[in-house]
Amino acid sequence: MPTVRFKKQFLHVEAADGANLRDVASENGVEVYQYLSRVFNCHGHGFCGTCLVRVEGEVAPRTRREDSKLRGMGLKEPDLRLACQCRVVGDVTVTTAPRAVQGWMEHADYAHMKVV
Ligand code: FES
Repeated sequence: MPTVRFKKQFLHVEAADGANLRDVASENGVEVYQYLSRVFNCHGHGFCGTCLVRVEGEVAPRTRREDSKLRGMGLKEPDLRLACQCRVVGDVTVTTAPRAVQGWMEHADYAHMKVV
């Protein structure tokens, strides 16, 4: 049984071989959507691109729809995947919201203002 590690959530779970990554996330309380896309998304049909995750490990190749959507979004990095189209075939590490913008307090120019 493959192990799925959700990096930001510090969570390791086991998944069935060939499991859909979006389903694995939602069954384990991991949110792959951000902000309004939690409500407004295509519910796993591969059309909206809001379930974008970074996946390191063994997953099935991109589906035709997924490849088309990601290329349309200008995303060429091979480890960026749509969770709803991605099948787990071995151990993987998943980063949700891989393109989230850092908060301004994390920006180097404001580091000196951080309260420790
Ligand atoms: S839920 Fe819309 S592309 Fe994955």
